[in-house]
Amino acid sequence: MSTATGSPPQKTLPNWDQLTFSLTETDVMFRSCGDKRRDPVWDRGEYVPFTDVRISPAAAFFSYGLGVFEGLKAQRTADGRVLLFRPEENAKRLQRSAERLSMPPFPSDLFVEACVEVVRRNLRFVPPAGKGSFYLRPIQHAIEPKLGLGPSNLFWVIIFGSPVGAYFTAGAPRGVRLQVLEQGRVAPGGTGYAKAMGNYAGGIYVASKWKERGFDDVLYLDARHERFVTETSGSNVFLVRKDGVLVTPPLDDQILPGVTRDSTIQAARKVLGIQVDERPLPVEEVLSEGEELFCTGTAWTLQSVREIVYRERAHAFPAESTRKALLDVIRGIQTGTREDPFRWTREVR
Ligand SMILES: Cc1ncc(COP(=O)(O)O)c(C=O)c1O
Repeated sequence: MSTATGSPPQKTLPNWDQLTFSLTETDVMFRSCGDKRRDPVWDRGEYVPFTDVRISPAAAFFSYGLGVFEGLKAQRTADGRVLLFRPEENAKRLQRSAERLSMPPFPSDLFVEACVEVVRRNLRFVPPAGKGSFYLRPIQHAIEPKLGLGPSNLFWVIIFGSPVGAYFTAGAPRGVRLQVLEQGRVAPGGTGYAKAMGNYAGGIYVASKWKERGFDDVLYLDARHERFVTETSGSNVFLVRKDGVLVTPPLDDQILPGVTRDSTIQAARKVLGIQVDERPLPVEEVLSEGEELFCTGTAWTLQSVREIVYRERAHAFPAESTRKALLDVIRGIQTGTREDPFRWTREVR
């Protein structure tokens, strides 16, 4: 494995008190090349300054969207250590996403090692405890110059990172407001379970129209029946029923298997002793039986939904105690203030 070539240009640190969920360029990124015609497919990668990349305009992903990505975070603890959260899960999901787009899987051990190393080489960009987190964005694309539609041979995996603050601006009203859409986020039988770039491209237009009308995001119903809730543009959803049971839609072809979703289910069942049902969740049940509604995601964390609008009728969810209790557990583990019974964190030394 080669090291950074020369000394990386010193990028500017952000103001820790004004972090938002946006890109701050950092010093070092990781890049590995894959070629399906050789064994092993992937090289060991290199750590290079974060900079523009040179790529053919005919690269397959430019035309055909052969690209997948990930998102995971490292956090600084009060005593100054840095903890990376469940990178093995993102490694596995990147592999499943890549397979769906006919791309070769990137080795999990190399993925985890590269994530740790990118954080380590950018340690000065990991915000102080309580000020934000360091977000890693691994991406994988088919970069082969190619005109016809078909599988490619050449790929890149790049991992870069950025310090980030909260996804939703601090000082906003408690919880988010979602418009329920009687349409699917992705096609039935399509790429919804993969973190594929194409799933997001079309959604920007949809969400923007509702954001202009004062919503924070949209909540998609399933594409087959337009009846069961699936997820928002970038988070999974959970309902706390009046009987205390936590319900979340089951993983299927239209739902991204969120790492935060899985962490929430495990924390609810094993730490807080809450019953969690993974089953289809009709929107009518959300309205009639819902006590609390919240979203989960790496960027969103655990976010209360204060109101949804369905068929032009608003429905409020004033409660948020379950979400708060779960966030306490998960954030506590992520930031080292709680014991980590699941061994979810990995220290970056
Ligand atoms: C569509 C969608 N659903 C759910 C999630 C939540 O996944 P995770 O908890 O792994 O961030 C994301 C974010 O990656 C997403 O883009």
